[in-house]
Amino acid sequence: MGNKSIFISGGAAGIGREVALKFHNAGWTVGAYDIDEEGLGKLAAEAPGIITGKLDVTDFTNWEEALADFTSHTNGKLDVLDNNAGIIGDFDIAEQPAGLIAKQIEVNCTGITLGAKAAYPYLKATKGAHMLSMGSASGIYGQPHITPYSASKFYVHGFTQAMSLEWRKDDIRVVSIMPLWAKTRLAAVEAKSTKRLGVRIEPSDVANSVWKAVHPKNFIERQRQDYSVSFPDLALRWSARFAPAPVVRQVNKIIAG
Ligand SMILES: NC(=O)c1ccc[n+]([C@@H]2O[C@H](COP(=O)([O-])OP(=O)(O)OC[C@H]3O[C@@H](n4cnc5c(N)ncnc54)[C@H](O)[C@@H]3O)[C@@H](O)[C@H]2O)c1
Repeated sequence: MGNKSIFISGGAAGIGREVALKFHNAGWTVGAYDIDEEGLGKLAAEAPGIITGKLDVTDFTNWEEALADFTSHTNGKLDVLDNNAGIIGDFDIAEQPAGLIAKQIEVNCTGITLGAKAAYPYLKATKGAHMLSMGSASGIYGQPHITPYSASKFYVHGFTQAMSLEWRKDDIRVVSIMPLWAKTRLAAVEAKSTKRLGVRIEPSDVANSVWKAVHPKNFIERQRQDYSVSFPDLALRWSARFAPAPVVRQVNKIIAG
């Protein structure tokens, strides 16, 4: 099969589902894998041709099996790994169940790292391949009341930086997307920033950024690692970099404190 291919973790709902539909409509071979088999069934019924299957991103054997299954449709090639699956816990650390705290780190951090390891042989075998991971604007400045989630998105940022150097020799480009709140199930939390900034981004806006991130136009854009989705998340990212630290802290106290 000559089509380009994308494997999406957490592809049954929300942003992952929207990415699956966008790339499918553009003629790519799309794999949507998830723990939510009911959601995958709905997606496959809506868009026949999308390949679906079970994947728990915290289990390395699951990753190996899911990628072997998908790449049996693509001649062993993989143009894009979209490390999309993620979960969130609501409320202060003192109130979050210990199991949910551990699970966020397992899914959001361990999950993407195991995905990278399992996908490496396929990405390496594909000219111009990409690994994209879903970061978040909550990985720009630590966000209270969703602390493990926010900290896990700093992991995504560090992981992206490190992997983009580690895989340079293999010509695998590594990028991440860092949006503010988007209209999915995940954003239904009490975190103050959802009220102060609102939940404005459509999952299709994020899917458009994913498309852009894996289609760099020139050499300079190929050096980019982070992609924003809306002007406010771009402004937050750049101001956190260049404004004095006490000012950035004060802004975050107002937005999220
Ligand atoms: N929605 C937002 O506001 C927002 C903002 C920034 C970043 N993100 C990130 O985007 C990604 C997608 O989030 P979303 O908003 O679409 O959430 P969502 O809850 O709508 O979808 C997440 C999907 O991941 C799947 N999933 C959960 N645990 C899994 C596991 N162990 N293995 C495989 N699949 C699993 C779920 O079944 C679900 O289909 C996440 O990484 C999230 O952190 C979301």
